[in-house]
Formats: sequence, C-alpha cells, structure tokens
Amino acid sequence: MLNITDVTHVYPNGVEALQRLTLRVVRSEITAVVGRSGCGKSTLLRIAAGLQSPQRGSITLNDAPVHGPTSDVSLMFQDAALLPWCTVRANIALPLDLQHRRDTGEVDYMIDLVGLREFAHALPSQISGGMAQRVALARALVLNPRLLLLDEPFGALDAFTRESLTQSVFDICRDAGATVMLVTHSIAEAVFLADRVVVLTPRPGRVAAEIAVGLPLRRTWDLQRSPEFAAIVGEVRDAMK
Ligand SMILES: Nc1ncnc2c1ncn2[C@@H]1O[C@H](COP(=O)(O)OP(=O)(O)OP(=O)(O)O)[C@@H](O)[C@H]1O
Ligand SMILES: [Mg+2]
Repeated sequence: MLNITDVTHVYPNGVEALQRLTLRVVRSEITAVVGRSGCGKSTLLRIAAGLQSPQRGSITLNDAPVHGPTSDVSLMFQDAALLPWCTVRANIALPLDLQHRRDTGEVDYMIDLVGLREFAHALPSQISGGMAQRVALARALVLNPRLLLLDEPFGALDAFTRESLTQSVFDICRDAGATVMLVTHSIAEAVFLADRVVVLTPRPGRVAAEIAVGLPLRRTWDLQRSPEFAAIVGEVRDAMK
C-alpha cells in the first residue's frame, strides 16, 4: 500500500536523518518501526504523511506518488499537538470539521474509547500529558483513515492505561482492516501489535532488519508470557544491537 523507496533525507543543518531507506507497508497490516532515539523514525513518518519531502527517493501510496498530506492518511505526532483554545471534544472533532463532514456519533465513540468522557469539555491546559496523547489518538482515528501513522502513541501513559489502550487500538485497527505504521520505543509493544517489525540502524536510519511476527491475529496480553513471544522479542533486540 505504502512504498518508500531509496529515501535519503538531510536536514538543512546537514544532519542526515535517513539514508537510502526502503520500506513497504502492506495493506491491512500493522508495521512497527523501532530504533534508537534520533535514528530518523519521526522523520520517516512525516515523509510518509507527505508533510516533508526527502532529498532523494520516492514515496507512493496505492501506486500514486505522495506529494502532500491527504485525508486518506492520518498522522499522530509524538507530542499531542492539540489546539490549546479548543476543548477535548473540539480537538477530536477537528478532522471532521476540516472536511465539512457531519459528526454522526463518531466523536462520542472516540471520546469513550480513550476514556475521556468526563473531560470532553476541558481545555488541553486542564488535562494531563497522557490524556492529551489519548485526545491526539482519538483525533487520528476519528476519520477512519486508510493509513494510520502513529508516532509513540502511548509514550506518556502509565503501564495500565498503556496496556488497555494498546489492546483497544489493536482491536479497532484489526476490525477496521486499517493499515498502520507505528513507531514505538517498546520492543514488546512492537511485537505484540505488529505483523512485521522493522528495525532501523542508528542515524542515519536505514533498515537493519525486518522481522515477521507470525503470532495469531487475535492477541491478548497473556501472549506476552509465551516462549514464542519472548523469542521474537529477543530477535528484535539482537537486530537493534
Ligand atoms: N527539523 C529538523 N532540523 C534539523 N534536524 C532535525 C530536524 N528534525 C530532526 N532532526 C534530526 O534528525 C535526526 C532524526 O530525528 P527524528 O526526530 O526523526 O528521530 P527519532 O528516531 O524520531 O528520535 P526519537 O526516538 O528520539 O523520537 C536527529 O538527529 C535530529 O536531530
Ligand atoms: Mg521521534
């Protein structure tokens, strides 16, 4: 579905973030991207979303070149990037408003999904960092995008909220047949969520390894205690060394 071919990106200050990176995201699959801090993961997602153009290489979505952002693709940034003057509810409804689409219940559904009913009318300054991340996640999901790009979506959450939200996102994406590229610092989370884990090298980012997860499509948290799960986590860890 998404083809990133031979992409090199150098920032104006001379920092080479990505070097000849080639990566495919297969339709209806969840692809997790892991790698050391600063290896170019966020750069890769911004390029995939059409928000940044690389110096070299090509990006196609369903065989059409990506030149700018489209409503088929939704990106959740690493920092929540909420509009400070809008309520939680209005922030989640924003993608619908921008497309002049009527809210037919999806905003309330998303608010419930991320557990923020009580805070629907709060402003971003009145909620915690983890709540802000949940708002950003709801906003990314509200349009039911064909391709969902998630940058560390669960970073600022406590372990329990993280587990339950990871499971919900996984179930939603599977049920919707959504295609997802997810950046995470947690190897266990990558293996739990993904069909394939792509390991990037330290900066400049290139693909160091691609590991097929091959676990059942329906996954519950208990799976993390199984030897199969531990073996795949070990494989990803070795590839990161
Ligand atoms: N706008 C920018 N201008 C200059 N350099 C940048 C810019 N954005 C990122 N970089 C540099 O590019 C490299 C890759 O950054 P990027 O944010 O893509 O890494 P990352 O893998 O997402 O890191 P982290 O895991 O810490 O979020 C870093 O060395 C960073 O300093
Ligand atoms: Mg990043």
